[in-house]
Amino acid sequence: MKNLYHLNTKLTGLIGHPIKHTFSPFIHNISFELNGLDYIYLPFDVPSSNLKTALKGIVSLGIKGLNVTIPHKENIMLIMNDVSEEASIIGSINTIVNDMGKLTGYNTDVNGIYETLVDYKEEINGSEVSVVGAGGAARAVIYSLIRYFKPSRIYLINRTEQRAESLKNYFIDKMKFDSFKTLELFPPDLVEVFGNSKLIVNATSVGMFPESDDIITTLGSSFTKEQIVFDLVYNPPQTALLKLAASRGAITLDGLKMLVFQAAKSFELWTGEQMPVEKVYKSLQLFIKT
Ligand SMILES: NC(=O)c1ccc[n+]([C@@H]2O[C@H](COP(=O)([O-])OP(=O)(O)OC[C@H]3O[C@@H](n4cnc5c(N)ncnc54)[C@H](OP(=O)(O)O)[C@@H]3O)[C@@H](O)[C@H]2O)c1
Repeated sequence: MKNLYHLNTKLTGLIGHPIKHTFSPFIHNISFELNGLDYIYLPFDVPSSNLKTALKGIVSLGIKGLNVTIPHKENIMLIMNDVSEEASIIGSINTIVNDMGKLTGYNTDVNGIYETLVDYKEEINGSEVSVVGAGGAARAVIYSLIRYFKPSRIYLINRTEQRAESLKNYFIDKMKFDSFKTLELFPPDLVEVFGNSKLIVNATSVGMFPESDDIITTLGSSFTKEQIVFDLVYNPPQTALLKLAASRGAITLDGLKMLVFQAAKSFELWTGEQMPVEKVYKSLQLFIKT
């Protein structure tokens, strides 16, 4: 990877706190190199107390754009000059574009979710689906499903059921989609719900979802080869959930593809160019293995 920076090198990066494990610098820097672009991507650990001054710095230093991660994805919206329609409905941004001092916020997770699921559009259309989780990622999943995939019903399942209920009411209000049923993350009830679902999405942060062996065994009985199981967790790419689903013959989709495609949209917004996603995806798989 290149290590020489020039007078005109354009700066991009990631702000969040804490910034621990991130593949974004790898994805973007290798993409800049593959496309022969004089850009660089760096991680910036910015606590909430410094967020406003950091954004002033983006403008004064001429930083081309940034990705945004926890805990700034929601709060930062208030400091943008403009916010895309998608990001505004979802209620969080993960990408900022600095256009001559005007900061616009976008949510490119939608692109990652769309590209991961697009091959199964017909199957999802008119079917019941389950989404586990009620955080920021679940919001992007629900938005994408309603907007592009038109399921007949969304089962919204979360450890804290009240949060799922709030999310349901939020989307009824924002997108006029009211075919929701909320449930607590409680296995006995989920067997039937998962059994009815064409698509099951894990949008929780539980890497080894579900955590206990008991739950794995119970859920395993409900997966079939007619189902699609999508786990947003990307490290490890093959989670316990996906391994279980694959063992039952279900179609499995990992979070790594979504990660690359959401990055590809940020890349396009900053550079105007297409990311070479296949090459980047393969390089990332190798990078993770080493
Ligand atoms: N592949 C990609 O490109 C991509 C993009 C974005 C996010 N993600 C992944 O998506 C996941 C969720 O991110 P997020 O931003 O939505 O996080 P978040 O806003 O913090 O939400 C976390 C969710 O996980 C649930 N949860 C946390 N610990 C749990 C546990 N022990 N048991 C059951 N549920 C638990 C929470 O339930 P409660 O409401 O009960 O707390 C909540 O629904 C993360 O793993 C993130 O890395 C992947």
